[in-house]
Amino acid sequence: MPMTSEASEASKPKDDFVPWYMQPKIVEGYEGWYEGKYKRADLLEKRVLEIMLDQFEGSSSILEIGCGTGHFTRWFQTLGKNAMGVDLSPYMAKQAKSLWKEGDFINAPSLNLPFRSMSFDVAFFITCFEYMPQPIMVLKEAARVARKGIVLGLMNSWSLPTLRRKFQLAFGKNDYYRRAHFYSIGEMKSLCKKSFDSDYSLAKWRTTLFPKPLGLERDTGNPFGAFLGVALKANEKKA
Ligand SMILES: C[S@@+](CC[C@H](N)C(=O)[O-])C[C@H]1O[C@@H](n2cnc3c(N)ncnc32)[C@H](O)[C@@H]1O
Repeated sequence: MPMTSEASEASKPKDDFVPWYMQPKIVEGYEGWYEGKYKRADLLEKRVLEIMLDQFEGSSSILEIGCGTGHFTRWFQTLGKNAMGVDLSPYMAKQAKSLWKEGDFINAPSLNLPFRSMSFDVAFFITCFEYMPQPIMVLKEAARVARKGIVLGLMNSWSLPTLRRKFQLAFGKNDYYRRAHFYSIGEMKSLCKKSFDSDYSLAKWRTTLFPKPLGLERDTGNPFGAFLGVALKANEKKA
């Protein structure tokens, strides 16, 4: 007897994969990475993010999408910006609030941001865009709420650390990146075109090279550093 579609749905093996950021125990320890293993990387990444932020002269308000525990949201505030964060994970949003009691953190998905159009100057994504399965829709939604543009900080697909992550995944060893998609500068250029056509342009990009920030201060990007910063700027008409 042929199975009804409901019966065939029910007979499919259930996928019980729970991403790490939806696991309270892992979320509790997340901020600790910045004080340990990732302390140096954090400094270099902030340098790249500052170079990206410099592209948006006079910007005062920032929305950090996928803000996690608010590590970078708090940092933006120290730079004199008015910053707030949103995150899909209620555990992350709660942890962010507990680390910065006066901070504004909201539990919401990147595809449906609970803000009016053009509420912020710049929207940031820092090592979170990789986990978002509909990148074009996500960029369009960020562009709706940001007047001047978007900055992405990404785990660079064309780098040794990401090659290692991909090997680990292939051997079932690193669940943190299961279902993550890694981007290179080449892919970001084409994603920007597909998402915005001529409404936006890719204004600047930089990568960090570990263990030294080789080339970071020179105006010649190397495309192979571990962390890729990309600034997408709204054209005059939108800004
Ligand atoms: C590696 S953490 C980065 C957190 C923070 N930006 C940082 O760099 O410390 C990735 C974050 O993306 C969030 N995230 C994943 N998918 C999301 C989505 N669709 N919308 C909003 N946040 C999302 C996760 O909950 C997690 O907090």
